[in-house]
Amino acid sequence: MRWSHTLTNQSVSQQGLGRDPYGRIVTRRFPRREPLTGQRQASTVANQSVSQPVRGSARCPAPTGGTRLRPREAEQAEPLACLPPSAHTQQLQERDHAFPSDSVGHHDSSAATTRVLTQARAQAAPPGPRRGYYTDPATAAAEQQRIFEKSWQLVGHESDLPVAGSRFAAPVAGREVQLVRREDGGVSGHLNVCRHRGAQLLTQAESKQVEPAIRCPYHGWTYHLDGTLVGAPEGRQIPCLDKPRLGLFPVRVESFLGFLFASLDPDAVPLAESCAGLVEAVGRYCGPDLTVVGKHRIHSSENIERQNANWKVVVDNFLEGYHVPVAHPGLMRLFDYQNYTAEPQSAYTLFEVPLREKPSSNPTERLYQRLASPMPGLGEADRRVWRYVAIYPNTLLDFYPDHVLAWSVLPDGHDGATLPGAYYARPGAGLRTRLARRLNIHIGWVTNDEDAELVARVQRGLSTPGTSRDRCRTGRTRSPGSTNGSGRTWPAR
Ligand code: FES
Ligand SMILES: [Fe+2]
Repeated sequence: MRWSHTLTNQSVSQQGLGRDPYGRIVTRRFPRREPLTGQRQASTVANQSVSQPVRGSARCPAPTGGTRLRPREAEQAEPLACLPPSAHTQQLQERDHAFPSDSVGHHDSSAATTRVLTQARAQAAPPGPRRGYYTDPATAAAEQQRIFEKSWQLVGHESDLPVAGSRFAAPVAGREVQLVRREDGGVSGHLNVCRHRGAQLLTQAESKQVEPAIRCPYHGWTYHLDGTLVGAPEGRQIPCLDKPRLGLFPVRVESFLGFLFASLDPDAVPLAESCAGLVEAVGRYCGPDLTVVGKHRIHSSENIERQNANWKVVVDNFLEGYHVPVAHPGLMRLFDYQNYTAEPQSAYTLFEVPLREKPSSNPTERLYQRLASPMPGLGEADRRVWRYVAIYPNTLLDFYPDHVLAWSVLPDGHDGATLPGAYYARPGAGLRTRLARRLNIHIGWVTNDEDAELVARVQRGLSTPGTSRDRCRTGRTRSPGSTNGSGRTWPAR
């Protein structure tokens, strides 16, 4: 079934949806037809507002129950309400403000007036985020609390903590956390703050150190690797030294697909649960046995890339492939774009794009096509497929035959984002695979530069007063048919 560009009220109803007074499409019950899945995918960053899991259709059921969408279909999807709860509320307020009651008859509470007001709102306020969500410092501040404190943040990889006593510090939701490998092999997470006078326990530069305990550099309070307080110098003279109560502030840690995530929310649903489908889909690429390639680390701020765009612009760009044919000529020479699929789920989206057999006109790309080969652990079917995953809200994973790129998009103010990340590969790859990896990383740099310029342009455009209501955010701008392929946006040059 082809999607209509705009859902009629009838089709909305048939699909178990309705429209709210503002004309947005809202879910009444689980969607039962394919387009809804695409719309859910279109809600990407703002998936925070979607509480129900997405159900797949019978057309192209994915192993995890999702729906695979091809670019043309996806482009025609209309987004559902695609804002986080805070943004959603603000949107309602802004729309109310835009339609003051006296514009249609102040204090007139007749049903006819209500209908007129409702229709006017519906017609004049198309669904989609407002530019304020991308340009408002207050919104950016609220996102720290409502999104980043409530979600899992990518902070590293198992290989970053090779032995007991290994540790590193990483940013999470405006704080710094410390992850430590314990004696029992597990990983503990704490705020990187001493319980005594609040000194920072570990700097970035000290993150490579291996110590048998956590010792504050200020007065020497010492903690076990699990964060419990061992003791303090001259402790017997400190009457209030209640050791059991003075351990480090704990932070939740989860190892998923070999990557380490931290969350400040004690109630955060484990990724192993919310993203269970990824284990089957891409688990063979991952694991604690991967080794890092190059000098970058996810938790490190050294040489970190910064892009001049709100973090959501960067993530949006990753999630929509509508721009690929125009913005990324190199990718278009490599991609079998028409067979680019997206499998949206409630907690993540998985993209797959097969590579073309036709040799590229570009020598580097052509050589890559010839050399592309799967690293150990992958099968022949993975040789000519690139896969991408976005775990909401801001973790992005690229899976290539020759390497994995894990990165995240961190807000840096309301108009900037930093992109920490690292390349990984499985040991034992042959010379051919390693050479292909180098070529692939180079190709990714080209894409990165193209995307960096584009997201900066979007941010500048969004910052232009008077453009908020004119933005077209129909499904074509949120095509789940492809990522930007630019997953490699991150490492700094
Ligand atoms: S601040 Fe850490 S021991 Fe005093
Ligand atoms: Fe892109």
